[in-house]
Amino acid sequence: MHHFISLADVTDLDALIRSGLMAKTNPFADEHLGHHKTIGLLFFNSSLRTRLSTEKAARNLGLNVMTLNVGSDSWGLEMEDGVLMNGDKAEHVREAAAVMGRYCDILAIRAFAGLTDRALDYKEQVMTQFARFAGVPIVNLESATRHPLQSLADCITIEEARTTYPLVPVRPKVVLTWLPHFKPLPQAVANSFSEWMNARAAAGKVEFVITNPEGYDLAPEFVGNARIEHDQNKAFEGADFIYGKNWSSYEHYGQVLTQDPSWAVTMDKMNLTNNGHFMHCLPVRRNLKVSDEVLDSPRSLVIEQAANREWSAQAVLREILLSL
Ligand code: CP
Repeated sequence: MHHFISLADVTDLDALIRSGLMAKTNPFADEHLGHHKTIGLLFFNSSLRTRLSTEKAARNLGLNVMTLNVGSDSWGLEMEDGVLMNGDKAEHVREAAAVMGRYCDILAIRAFAGLTDRALDYKEQVMTQFARFAGVPIVNLESATRHPLQSLADCITIEEARTTYPLVPVRPKVVLTWLPHFKPLPQAVANSFSEWMNARAAAGKVEFVITNPEGYDLAPEFVGNARIEHDQNKAFEGADFIYGKNWSSYEHYGQVLTQDPSWAVTMDKMNLTNNGHFMHCLPVRRNLKVSDEVLDSPRSLVIEQAANREWSAQAVLREILLSL
């Protein structure tokens, strides 16, 4: 593996999931791999899990870690080529990425969607520009349209649950459900989860359904072969995993079309499932998107899911280090 920007960079998903599970049982088995090497973590946006789990995974592999909050700790970065830089951005990505690529063996970057210009967000300008100019592998810590380290952690969590919980079938039904929220959020987590679950479905590992209100269908390239069901109760019937997430409209780009509270996940909804488990990438607003009762029940996997972020990052960084 060179870059890890999307699922397209993964050659063997089963092996990557197994590698994450192996790292969980023996975190320091590959601590020699990163010796005398450095990873730079660049955050254009806030983070709790991604920042801490990636730092921890990198250290488990023996890497030196440098973290930079772009904009607040450093100069604002211009991403457009050929512009007159007479605004508030003092440095161009061409120089910044090239310089950081000289200090670091791997660069990992978080840069969310702006949610105003769909074409700009979906061309993934920040990841593309860093991949062009850094000269070192790039890891996506959540970009405008994808959050692949989260999706790998989600795959690890589902795989783990298949062995931990005897009621989970060999080919579980996984339902991605839209949740209500009052402000527009990016589509990245939902896009990515859908992309990765489509791959798992194609491999015969899961059945995958997406449920969302009218007007909230994800981009067709991310929906893939998933079945879209606009009746949430119907979608929940027989589900083994409910994956909750809010996202703003793709069609009416970046807009909040409804805040319908009946889309929140409650225990009554969970009781429609096949003793299903609840998943969410976190952070989550309690009782707005999902009830306390669900989050505090043994059916919630959210903490294990967040814990598995360490092992997804470790599996990816290990692959990249092996290729350096
Ligand atoms: N799930 C996730 O990416 O969490 P953070 O935004 O806290 O990193």
